[in-house]
Amino acid sequence: MSPSESDRRAAAAEEYLKTISVKVNAELDRNLPPTTDRPSRLHEAMRYSVFAGGKRLRPGLCYAAWKALGGKGDEIFLATSALEMFHTFSLIHDDLPCVDDDDLRRGRPTAHCQYDEATAVMAGDALCVLAFELLSRTGVPEVVGTMARALGTYGMIGGEITDIESEGKKVDLDTVDYIHDCKTACLIEASLVIGAQIAGASQSDIDALARYGRRIGLAFQVVDDVLDVVSTTEQLGKDAGSDIELGKATYPALIGVEASRKRANELVEQALEALESVRADTTVLRDIAEFIVKRAN
Ligand code: IPE
Ligand code: IPE
Ligand code: MG
Ligand code: MG
Ligand code: MG
Repeated sequence: MSPSESDRRAAAAEEYLKTISVKVNAELDRNLPPTTDRPSRLHEAMRYSVFAGGKRLRPGLCYAAWKALGGKGDEIFLATSALEMFHTFSLIHDDLPCVDDDDLRRGRPTAHCQYDEATAVMAGDALCVLAFELLSRTGVPEVVGTMARALGTYGMIGGEITDIESEGKKVDLDTVDYIHDCKTACLIEASLVIGAQIAGASQSDIDALARYGRRIGLAFQVVDDVLDVVSTTEQLGKDAGSDIELGKATYPALIGVEASRKRANELVEQALEALESVRADTTVLRDIAEFIVKRAN
């Protein structure tokens, strides 16, 4: 693919995410508890972190998969709300003093800085629990298990604990891949699988989307590692350079920035290959794969 074609696709994906965010945000607002209900400060903290910004990548992927595979009805927005809540839960806990100890997220003070540590822990917990309730209302029971596996010790939580345990240690590339697959790619894969499951897709299409999700998910975290090194705090809306400060197991730390970029591009190629077997119009998913390596934050 020519560089200009790849730029055009990445820009189309950015536009798609902006457009879909309007409906995704309206549904999040409908599904989050009002701040007028007790415990109001906790409800406020949940909304503070969810509405601080964010690219809405996981809802966008879920919707794109669902739409491509012929999905109909409004249940999909229960799933997109849930996915953004799970993701925000992971961010709030990732920023805590006992994890990455970051002060800035989505261009604002992190939840524990804006509120306090107990409120941040509970806000994360409450988002996770509410999100499972929303998934249970989609009418597609499989999505609950898909999500639980993606978040558990074989998924996001497993990746996060190994990320912490690896700080300041020399780890090999297999371990970095394991951390990145678990902490980031599992949730991205689940976003696609859940969209496909709600659309009633065939098992072979679900499997192909899962493979695509795993590859773009790993690419996404490799690029996140690179951006931590090459971008500014202003551009990222989160503290740049924090991986180096904490001695994190990252791609650039192991193989350098250029080789990391190359690896992210290879992963995107593999993701696009995985889409070839899907019998549907996957243009939006192809565009998003390009966006993942081209993004500035
Ligand atoms: C940040 O995710 C956490 C990682 C998995 C690297 P995003 O970069 O998608 O964060 P938002 O949602 O846009 O803030
Ligand atoms: C976190 O990875 C992935 C999550 C599960 C939240 P990072 O720690 O690299 O994410 P950022 O850079 O803080 O967004
Ligand atoms: Mg982290
Ligand atoms: Mg972090
Ligand atoms: Mg990071």
